[in-house]
Amino acid sequence: MQDLEFAVEGLDLDKKTILDAAVGAGKATAFWAEKISQGGFSSRIIGVDIDLPSCWRKKIEERLGDHKNYVELIEGDIFHLDFLENESIDIINCADTIIFLNEKPLRLLQAFREFRRVLVPGGNLIITSEYSGKDMGVNEGQWRRWQLSKSIFELMGKTWSQEPEPQEIRGALEIMGFTITGERDFPAKRIENFREVMDEWKNDMTESVEKLPWDDKFRQTIREEVKKVYQGVLKEGYLLGPAKFIIKARKGS
Ligand SMILES: C[S@@+](CC[C@H](N)C(=O)[O-])C[C@H]1O[C@@H](n2cnc3c(N)ncnc32)[C@H](O)[C@@H]1O
Repeated sequence: MQDLEFAVEGLDLDKKTILDAAVGAGKATAFWAEKISQGGFSSRIIGVDIDLPSCWRKKIEERLGDHKNYVELIEGDIFHLDFLENESIDIINCADTIIFLNEKPLRLLQAFREFRRVLVPGGNLIITSEYSGKDMGVNEGQWRRWQLSKSIFELMGKTWSQEPEPQEIRGALEIMGFTITGERDFPAKRIENFREVMDEWKNDMTESVEKLPWDDKFRQTIREEVKKVYQGVLKEGYLLGPAKFIIKARKGS
């Protein structure tokens, strides 16, 4: 929770339009919506995700409970926020997502350019991201899960994740006309609901394996590897989320 608290620290959350990029399972969305409710504010959150099937919407809405009135969920791509006007957003929260936007040099800049376009002058951008592999080695299951995901995506000619270091993010933000206003590190911590995370991971990976342009014998080897990693994590009994950092920035100087 410390990272979530630091993300909102010092922000005026009253009468604001907040972009949550991207929603994922809705952990940060639920936290921000609760803050708005607790403060008696009238702000609204636009939660965007490129992958928002109805079963996920339902799960996120369940998680939001009474706070779902503050949130509008939109299926959309961070690189093309065409449904948002220029300078229409006061705050952007981008938690645990940058690593999926950074698959090629300059891709990150493209996302930041879109964030800059939709933010009002002086608007705030809060980025939470993960250190690559730092501390992950102490949790074999998590390390194997991450390596196998990267390998399967590589075989498909895609990128699973590409973790930029804080200095790369700071550099990209400065190029895009942001001023850094705060930064903090957070140690690795256990992921709650790791069973749910693993079930989703197994589904994703199994679907991906079917798309591999190889013969079925090879695909079977990878399927078995996915199963092995899945069972290994269940046996280990926990997943360790990697160490994170938060960078806060403001549009303009
Ligand atoms: C780890 S989750 C985000 C976690 C969430 N912010 C939270 O706090 O619970 C990463 C999300 O990024 C989404 N994503 C990846 N690339 C995207 C893109 N180009 N546009 C929008 N969403 C994207 C994925 O679908 C996934 O749901």
